[in-house]
This record gives sequence, C-alpha cells and structure tokens, in this order.
Amino acid sequence: MEAEGTFGPDFRFNILGNALSSQAALHAQYGGVFPNLAKREHAKNLVPLLAQVVKTEGTTTVDEAALQDLLHREPELLEQLIPFFRTHAKPDIDAITVTHGPGLEPALWVGVNFAKALSLAWNIPIVAVNHMEGHIILSMMNVSDTNSYSSVLQKTSIETRLADFEFPVLALLISGGHTELVLSKEFQKYEIIGQTRDDAAGEAFDKVARLLDLPYPGGPEISRLAAQARKSDEVRPHRIPLPRPMLHEDNFDFSFSGLKTAVRRIVEQHSPLSEEMKLEIAREFEDAVADVLVGKTMRAAEEYGADTIVVGGGVSANARIKELLANRLFNQSAATRLLVPPAELATDNAIMIALAGYFHALKKDFADPTTLSAIGNLQLS
Ligand code: KG4
Ligand code: ZN
Repeated sequence: MEAEGTFGPDFRFNILGNALSSQAALHAQYGGVFPNLAKREHAKNLVPLLAQVVKTEGTTTVDEAALQDLLHREPELLEQLIPFFRTHAKPDIDAITVTHGPGLEPALWVGVNFAKALSLAWNIPIVAVNHMEGHIILSMMNVSDTNSYSSVLQKTSIETRLADFEFPVLALLISGGHTELVLSKEFQKYEIIGQTRDDAAGEAFDKVARLLDLPYPGGPEISRLAAQARKSDEVRPHRIPLPRPMLHEDNFDFSFSGLKTAVRRIVEQHSPLSEEMKLEIAREFEDAVADVLVGKTMRAAEEYGADTIVVGGGVSANARIKELLANRLFNQSAATRLLVPPAELATDNAIMIALAGYFHALKKDFADPTTLSAIGNLQLS
C-alpha cells in the first residue's frame, strides 16, 4: 500500500498489491481453527504470498547467520526466505506493518518473526498493529466512488480517501474472536465500553453452523439459509423462538453461549432436522444475534453521543446486521453516520493492517525488533 497525508481530507491511499491465503477450507475439514495447524499453515504460506506481491529482480544481500538466529523457531520460513532473498531485490518499501495481537499466539508469532526477518534483510522499520484497530480504520475509508473493491483486489489500483465523519465514533467490532463496543473520542484513542462475556458473535455463528451440519466459516452459510428462509412461504417465522441474551440489561456487554445452547437443545429435540427446520433456525438465530448487537449499539450510541457508528470485523459482512442498523438509524432520524466495510474487506486482510500501520508510521511509532512480541490478548487502548 502507498499512502500520503495525515488523518483528514488530504489523506489518500492506493493498494499496490494484495494477496490473501485463506485457511478456511482447511479449517472446514476439521470444523474449526486449531492453533498449531493455523501456525503451520502461516509458516507455509507467508513466503509464497510475499512472492505474489513483491516481483523485484535481483538479490537482497542478507546476513544469513543473523537470519538463522532470528528464525530459529521458524525453520520453514527460513528455508523459504533464503532462496527468496537470493532472487529478489529490496522493493521500494519504507516500513512493514504486522499484526502482533490479539489472536492465537502461535500463529501471531509466525507473522511477527516474518516481519522481523524482512526488517533485517531490507533495513526498514516495523510497525506493530492491533488487529482490531485495523478493522476500525478500514471501515473509516470511503469506498462509495469505487463501489467495489473486487477490481482493486484483482488487478487495478484505485485511489481511496477517508469517509466524511465526525468523532466521537462508536465501533461495533464483531469477529470470530471478538465482540466489542469501542468508544473512540479521537483518532487512535480507544475505550472498550462493552464486550462478550463468553463466545464472540462470529464464534456463535460458527458453532451454530456446526450444529446444523454446515461448513466452516459458519457466518456466510447461516446467512444464506436465513435469506432463503425469508423468501420461503413454507418457513414460518418465530416458530422456534430464541432468546435475545442481555438485550435489556443495563450494560454494553454481550453473551452468545446461551443462544448456542438453546439451538443445540432445539436441534436435539427435532433430530433429524428437516430442511425447513434448518432454515427456520438459521433465520431465528441470525435475527437474535442482529437484534442484540444492534439494540445495544443503538443504546450505546445514544448514551455516549456518538456522531458515527463504525462496524468492523468478519461478521460485519452480514447483510442482516447492517440492514437492521441502517433501518434503526433511519427510523430515529438520527444524524449518526454509519460506516461499514466493503463486503470483500470485512473479513481479515492485509490492507486493514497496512492502513492502521501507516498512521503509526507517520508518528514514527515503530516497534523495537529486539523486544517485539506477539500478544494473544492485546487490548485496544
Ligand atoms: O474478522 P474475521 O475475518 O476473523 C477474526 O478476526 O476472527 O472474522 C471471521 C468471522 C467468522 O466467525 C465468520 O463466520 C464470520 O466472521 N463471518 C460472518 C459472515 N461472514 C463472515 N458472520 C455472519 N455473517 C456473515 N456474512
Ligand atoms: Zn478480524
């Protein structure tokens, strides 16, 4: 990514190259994410991904002994990086940004060590980014004049700027590992005002999908069945009412594990599940999650006087949640601005990390490679 300007109307960025290697198909085989499997896959895939975006000719002269020392825990990276550096010159890059948390620590470490290796070889600084900040900042970009990022992601680069919005911002972060309401009164300052006490929203989608025999990741699958249910006359709404956990409690926390348990009970009672039943459960579950997320977000926005609501994280690809939030805001004639990410970039990607990293690089907020660590439970602050 190439960018210029500070956080404001002058800011602009271009995606020069983007590559993504998804482990979804592999995790689908096992019905979920296993830390060591995820780690091994990262170690296998990072160098081939790098080779997809860095096409320089020539060589990078690197102190191989130092590299070996740095990567003593990542033999697979080392084995691939040595021939990579021998066949690729240093690209025109000023800094490398990497996610150092939150997430699965073994997997995060691979990325952190990879960044350290590139930093050593190319003599460029590292910016360590909080994954959740990446989701927030990506949603703050204006995509209206590009409409879709799919062309960007495939070939051409399109210049993008910031969306027009005001602080305070309330961010609803919903992903496979997190469900948080975050208040941001100014850029890069965050205060968590509520979070899940058990499962994350995406995790709930994934677990309920398993109960319904749907593949991983479950979010898009449930969403597809729910949409089908809404179109079908045979599927009766609210035949299997599910709870709206914590919706009316006087706090901004969430809980989704009870919802999953309620689904499990229904599945057991009605086994074997008919197709209609599956559709009904998918719809009711999606509605329950959407009601709770949107209900609490609206209340928090009011209480904290948010001028903008930002939705981020993989679950923000969910059309029902976005639609419900937009409708509630419209019905209240609230002046609150709603920012959601383009569907192609709602789930994890490198662009969001590059964007968040750019603004830290501007402030010369670089990591010390000798102490930089992966932090599984890294918090926004
Ligand atoms: O942000 P993300 O890509 O990874 C994490 O940081 O966790 O989020 C992945 C999560 C998965 O749980 C997946 O099921 C969920 O996002 N997800 C969705 C949809 N698309 C992805 N959940 C609901 N509806 C969707 N359309
Ligand atoms: Zn994420």
